[in-house]
Amino acid sequence: MNFQLCSMFDFLKSAPKSYLGIDIGTSSIKIVQLGIEENRAKLETYGFLETYGAIELLRDTIQTSSVRLLDAQVVDLLKKLLEKSKVTTRNAVISIPVFSTFSALMELPDMPYKEIEAAIPYEARQYIPVPISEVILGWNIIGKKTREAPDDPTAAPAISKIEVLLIATPREVANKYANITRMLGLNLKAIEAESFALGRSLVGDDNVPTVIVDIGSRVTNILLVENGYVMINKGLDTSGNELTKILSHALNVDFRRAEMLKREKGLLQRDDSERSINKVILPVIDIIINEVKRVGDFYIRHRGKKVERIILCGGSAHLPGLSDYFSASFNNLSVVVGNPWRKVIYPSSIEPILNDLAPSFSVAVGLAMREL
Ligand SMILES: Nc1ncnc2c1ncn2[C@@H]1O[C@H](COP(=O)(O)OP(=O)(O)OP(=O)(O)O)[C@@H](O)[C@H]1O
Ligand SMILES: [Mg+2]
Repeated sequence: MNFQLCSMFDFLKSAPKSYLGIDIGTSSIKIVQLGIEENRAKLETYGFLETYGAIELLRDTIQTSSVRLLDAQVVDLLKKLLEKSKVTTRNAVISIPVFSTFSALMELPDMPYKEIEAAIPYEARQYIPVPISEVILGWNIIGKKTREAPDDPTAAPAISKIEVLLIATPREVANKYANITRMLGLNLKAIEAESFALGRSLVGDDNVPTVIVDIGSRVTNILLVENGYVMINKGLDTSGNELTKILSHALNVDFRRAEMLKREKGLLQRDDSERSINKVILPVIDIIINEVKRVGDFYIRHRGKKVERIILCGGSAHLPGLSDYFSASFNNLSVVVGNPWRKVIYPSSIEPILNDLAPSFSVAVGLAMREL
């Protein structure tokens, strides 16, 4: 367990309207407290606790069982982090990891908003693989599909369908997160799927069709965002940890050494030897790229639009050479590393640190922004 970095801003007093975003990742916990200044989000404090493999165990527990002790361990870690970062607000928003949610694209006949609202829980039964009573449903109306009326008056008439993205969170999972915040004495304002937080912090209401690829430690979360709405969402079980594992195996070095080599060389070391780092990790990166391509193809088929930019985030967005490799794989499309601080006020003296942490903090910042 390693408290790698904790920043404290003693000089900042928290305004009454401040919110704390909490992202419990597989390899680290990120927290951010934001307040408001002249209608803009202002950074009040943040904390980052790198936990390596320990949290993986905890998150599996959060996901699958109800061992009290491990919940208590998460609480203990968070308590220390809140203290060290001098968090002053009690208002918290916490994220649900993508692998704990189900998402599906649903079609409904076009009808008034109130009726759509009433129909969604009923219709969702066909799309969600568990009983609806056991999940909390989140949804976005993402568009309308119209089939033109044909010239032939005897043919079928024009029809409109509403498309809805469903994101369902098992109640059991939500309850666990609610319990964790209760044990910390926090006032839980919302539990949110990671994807909505990412859309908010990295894209906002920008109407450029954007794919966000959050490459964390255990999971890669791929989402397509347009006009502030998450239109498509896919979780992939291939991520940063997999890169380290495969490298450790191929080079016959321990996990820590492989992690170091990965961070240092990434995709930049290009030689043809079988043990070239580039050669070992590229097939794993290609799995992620292929999935992103599938999301782009789906978008073209369903909405007739093209993805115009890709934003990489999550700790693995730091992998040397990754943006260039992505861009080359997508015909030189614009590929950037996401910066969730872009709309946040902060002291310029800490800009280098914040830039370094930016990709990892995309979820936590989006959560804290939710209620501002
Ligand atoms: N400089 C770097 N180069 C390459 N990879 C890096 C670098 N820094 C961190 N990583 C990788 O980023 C990953 C951690 O990212 P992040 O903090 O976003 O994950 P997480 O949120 O804890 O995990 P998850 O979302 O999958 O549960 C690790 O796999 C780590 O090896
Ligand atoms: Mg994460």
